[in-house]
Amino acid sequence: MGDRKSNVVLTGFMATGKSTVGRLLAVRRNASYMDTDEIIVERHGSIEEIFAAQGEAAFREMERDIASELKKTSGLVIATGGRMMLDPDCAQSLGSTGRVICLAASIEEIKRRLLTDEDQLVRPLLAGSSEAELRLLYEERVAGYSRFQQVHTDQRSVEAVVEEIETLLGND
Ligand code: S3P
Repeated sequence: MGDRKSNVVLTGFMATGKSTVGRLLAVRRNASYMDTDEIIVERHGSIEEIFAAQGEAAFREMERDIASELKKTSGLVIATGGRMMLDPDCAQSLGSTGRVICLAASIEEIKRRLLTDEDQLVRPLLAGSSEAELRLLYEERVAGYSRFQQVHTDQRSVEAVVEEIETLLGND
């Protein structure tokens, strides 16, 4: 993990590339990578099933538990679920561990990525939703994300995005 102490916490709307960027950033920083959605799936089963069987509130509680567990960590790259850092408790817990970077993409780019998503992840908040509903959710969240340091990802390679983040992080 080298001598780097701060965590790097990636936030941003669904399909902005948090996991893909996070994995490469972790390699570049010689850091361990964590993905909060993956932790939840390992513990509780698929996100789709959690939303269906227990509801969104239960999922958000699981996110808060993980944020609280990660409060004492350092030297990690953490990709968070799309809404996690908009929750004040999660933002407080994870924000205190290091730098928060928000990956940004236009709604057109997000739609394109959702259509070509290789993992074919089921995102319950988008399943069966119309373009207007996607736009509404996106617009509802813009203000929340805007308080974090933004890195734009439209028409940029994963490498270019990682490089910009590394520059922003400096010696952190
Ligand atoms: C969500 C984003 C998802 C996942 C869940 C809810 C959201 O993560 O946590 O489906 O509310 O934005 P990704 O941003 O990795 O898709």
